[in-house]
Amino acid sequence: MPAPLPSELAYIRFVSVENMMKLVHSIGIETMLKDLARYIEDDFRRWEDFDKTPRVASHSAEGVIELMPTSDGEDYGFKYVNGHPSNTKVGLQTVTAFGLLARVDTGYPELLCEMTLLTALRTAATSAMVARHLAPKQARTMALIGNGAQSEFQALAMRAIVGIDTLRMYDIDPAATRKAVGNLEGQGFTLVPCDTPEEAVEGAQIITTCTADKQYATILTDNLVGDGQHINAIGGDCPGKTELHRDILNRADVFVEYPPQTRVEGEIQQMPEDFEVTEMWQVISGTAPGRVNDRQITLFDGVGFAIEDFSALRYLRDKLSEHPFYQELDIIADPDDPRDLFGMLQRAAPD
Ligand SMILES: NC(=O)c1ccc[n+]([C@@H]2O[C@H](COP(=O)([O-])OP(=O)(O)OC[C@H]3O[C@@H](n4cnc5c(N)ncnc54)[C@H](O)[C@@H]3O)[C@@H](O)[C@H]2O)c1
Repeated sequence: MPAPLPSELAYIRFVSVENMMKLVHSIGIETMLKDLARYIEDDFRRWEDFDKTPRVASHSAEGVIELMPTSDGEDYGFKYVNGHPSNTKVGLQTVTAFGLLARVDTGYPELLCEMTLLTALRTAATSAMVARHLAPKQARTMALIGNGAQSEFQALAMRAIVGIDTLRMYDIDPAATRKAVGNLEGQGFTLVPCDTPEEAVEGAQIITTCTADKQYATILTDNLVGDGQHINAIGGDCPGKTELHRDILNRADVFVEYPPQTRVEGEIQQMPEDFEVTEMWQVISGTAPGRVNDRQITLFDGVGFAIEDFSALRYLRDKLSEHPFYQELDIIADPDDPRDLFGMLQRAAPD
C-alpha cells in the first residue's frame, strides 16, 4: 500500500536557489536591496525586542561553520553559514548559506530557504543602510577592494541607497576585478579598475573592503585613509581574520552591530576589550550620534549579525504572498493523533 499523503500541516514553504533568482529578477535587484535595507533598519530600530547572542562558530584550519539564531518573540529565525577563504581555489564558494523562519507560539517552522544569494543581498543592504547614516552626504565614489562574490551586490546597494556612481576597483587577483567589471558594465557606473589599493582609494568618499583571507591581513594601512572617509569593512569577520591596520581603528569612530560578537570577530578584536564603539541600532534610533563632522573618519566594522538574516527572512515571507516563487516541502511529520507518531510511521510499513 502506498504511504498516505502528508496532511496540510506537514508542509512549509521552501525557496530554492532557482526560485530566489526568479524572485530577485521579478522584484528588481535594486528595489529588493532598498526593501531589505528598510526591513533591516526597522529591526535595528526595535533592537531591544530581540533575543541576542553571538553566533555559534565551529572553527577549523580551513574555515568556519556558524549558526546565527534570533527571535523577536513572535518569529524565530536562524541561518547556517560557512566561511572558507580557500574554497575558490577548488571551485567552491567562500560563503554558502541557508536559513529557516519558525513561529514562536507553536515552534513550527514555516519557511526554509537558500541564503547564499540572500546573504549577499542582506550584507550589501546592511552596508548601504549604515553608509547612509555615516558616509559623507555627497558621497559618489567608492573604492571596492576585494572583487569576489559579495562585491557587485555591495556596488548596487551603495548606488541604490547612497547614490554611489563611480567604483574604483582593486583585487589581489586581477581576474576577480575583470569578472566584477564585466558584471557591472553597461549599468551606468563609471568603473575604474586599479592596480593597487593606493590607486583605488584615491578620491573615494567610501572605502569598502570585502576580501577573504584566513589571517590578520592588512588590506588598508593608516596612510591610505584620509579625513572624512567612511570605511565599510565587511571581510574581517572571524577570530584571526582582519583587514585593517590597527592604527586606523585609533583614528576612526567605530560603529558595530552587536559588540559581544564584534569584539571576537571584527576588526576591533585587535583592540583592548574596553575599546570604545557605537552600536548602530543606537544611531538609527537617535540615541547616539553618527557622523558629527566632515573630517571624522567613520568605520563600520561589519561582521554580519543574526537580526539582519531575520529581517531578510521576514521580508522573504512577506514577498511570497505577491510572488509565489516557492515549493511546498513536507518537512513536519504530522500524525492524525499528535501523540501517535509511531502509528503514523506504521501506516507506511510494507505489507
Ligand atoms: N560582514 C558580513 O556580513 C559578511 C557577509 C558575507 C561575507 N563576508 C565576508 O566578506 C568577504 C568576501 O566574501 P566573498 O564571498 O566576496 O569572498 P570571495 O572569496 O568570493 O572574494 C574575496 C576576494 O578577495 C580577494 N582578496 C583576498 N586577499 C586580498 C587582498 N589582500 N587584497 C585585495 N583582494 C584580496 C580575493 O582575490 C577574492 O577575489 C569574506 O571574508 C566573507 O567572509 C562578510
